[in-house]
This record gives sequence, structure tokens and C-alpha cells, in this order.
Amino acid sequence: MFRPGLFDGQVAIVTGGGTGIGLATARELTALGARVVIASRSREKVDAGLAALGLPADRAAGRTCDIREAEQCDALVDAAKEAFGRVDVLVNNAGGQFPSPAEHLSSRGFEAVVRNNLSGTFHMTRAAATRAMIPARRGRVVNVIADIARGFPGMVHTGAARAGVENLTKTLAVEWAAHHVQVNAVAPGTIVSSGTAQYGDALLEAARRATPAKRLGTPEEVARVIVFLASDLADYVTGSTYYIDGGSSLWGDIWGIDDHAGPRPGP
Ligand SMILES: NC(=O)c1ccc[n+]([C@@H]2O[C@H](COP(=O)([O-])OP(=O)(O)OC[C@H]3O[C@@H](n4cnc5c(N)ncnc54)[C@H](OP(=O)(O)O)[C@@H]3O)[C@@H](O)[C@H]2O)c1
Repeated sequence: MFRPGLFDGQVAIVTGGGTGIGLATARELTALGARVVIASRSREKVDAGLAALGLPADRAAGRTCDIREAEQCDALVDAAKEAFGRVDVLVNNAGGQFPSPAEHLSSRGFEAVVRNNLSGTFHMTRAAATRAMIPARRGRVVNVIADIARGFPGMVHTGAARAGVENLTKTLAVEWAAHHVQVNAVAPGTIVSSGTAQYGDALLEAARRATPAKRLGTPEEVARVIVFLASDLADYVTGSTYYIDGGSSLWGDIWGIDDHAGPRPGP
């Protein structure tokens, strides 16, 4: 299905495209013929991503952009159009969070993650849709969320933000169907990448044990599903969320509820 030239003539923006899942996605898209613009806050990460792609300037470009700032998202879309003439695909991969029990999480910490993962995704999506996709009457948006099917114990901020993005995915899929803009999401389980380095070996091992597949995922396994959803192969798919998690949305818990506290009071 992923034949050479599948994305010939198409231009994709991948936020957070300098590292991890974003870089794997940019690599797959360019291998299939797309031209890409990768973007994130740090020039170093963007440059390292461009170096890893190893493509000439007419195939891959990099820009700094903080998705929390709406004007920077507008400028990123304009820069992609200026460089490559169009924007067909937006992969909203940029994001981040940190583990914290809810009772220890400050309002500031909560709002920072919601601003990044939910508001930033909206700013970026609106920019791509209004400045490129809706006028062109064609576009594909793929949002990277997380394994939130059973809440997100230990990271209430990102669970709430990603649930917001999942809902936004459905809403925009309906609102923009008339413009031929499809909006889908992927929900990775625990993926061994630059983003999970902060969690440490013990937590990653707990995640592995709590995954029915008994292993963690790779950025390439997430990238494949993103690329499918961004391609013409998924022409009839919109408003969907695909879990890429080895079954962990269905079984297994990393977050241990303390059994030693005794039974919870009944009614
Ligand atoms: N790995 C997993 O297990 C997993 C599971 C579920 C969901 N996810 C999500 O999948 C995405 C990719 O994860 P990853 O594992 O590849 O982690 P990663 O390497 O940390 O990727 C996150 C990327 O987002 C960029 N970014 C963060 N905030 C940004 C902002 N405000 N504006 C622009 N760029 C921003 C970062 O670059 P800068 O620092 O340069 O901005 C970085 O390149 C993230 O949204 C992550 O939360 C990951």
C-alpha cells in the first residue's frame, strides 16, 4: 500500500518533527515523496532533525515555532507555503507533559500542559486549515494524543488535554468535511523515544508489564499509522482515533492504587 510516490507533490508540516515520533513520521513521509517542514521551539532540535533526514533544501525545511503562540503557528503555515507552495498534511505531534499525582499538581502546571497540548494543537490546526487547506479544498490533519481511553492516572493534565484534542478531532472532521479536510488522531501507548527518556527504566518496565503485547512500541510503529491516515489510502476515514498501544488501552495499569489503605467506604 505504501508505494513509492504516494505523497508526490504533497507538502506536510510535522510539529515536533525534529525528534522521536515526529522525526520518524517526517522520515516516512519524505521516503514516500512528500516535502516536509519540521518545526519545534528549539533550533537545535530542528537542525538535528534536518540533519537526520539528510535531504536537500527543496525536500525538507525546518522552522522554529512555539505552538502555544497562535501568530507563530500562522507564520509557520505561511513559511511552508512560501517554501513549497502548499500545505496538504498537518501532523500535530508537538507536545509534552510530566508525571505528577493530581493532588501535587499546581494550577500553573495543569494550565501549562493544557495550553501546550490542547490550545497549541488548536492554534496549529486552525492556521493550516484557514491559510492552506480550506482554500485548497483539500487537507489531512493527524493529531497525536495518548492512551486516554481509561483516563490518564498520574498525568491528569495531559489526559484532560488529549481528551480535548480527541473531541476537537471529531468536531473538525464534521465541520470541515465539506472542505475535504479530514481530521483523525492516533493514540500511542508507551513508545520508547526521546519523549519517554524522562520517565526512567522502572516506569518503562512497569509500562511494559502492563501492556498485553509485553513490549513497548517504537516511533516507527506510530509513524506508519500517522502516514496511513495522512494518505489517500484513508480517504474515507475521518474523526477517528487509532490506538497504537499493544492493547494497553484495554488491559493493564501502570498506576497502582494503594491496596494497603484498606477498602474504600461503601455507600
Ligand atoms: N513516547 C510516548 O510514549 C508517547 C505516548 C503518547 C503520546 N506521546 C506524544 O507524542 C508526541 C511525540 O512524542 P515523542 O515521544 O516523540 O517525544 P519528544 O521527542 O519529546 O517530542 C515532542 C516534540 O514536541 C516539541 N514541542 C513540545 N512543545 C512544543 C511547543 N510548544 N511548540 C512546538 N514544539 C513543541 C519538542 O521540541 P521542542 O522542545 O524543540 O519544542 C519535541 O520535538 C508528544 O506530543 C508526546 O507527548 C508520546
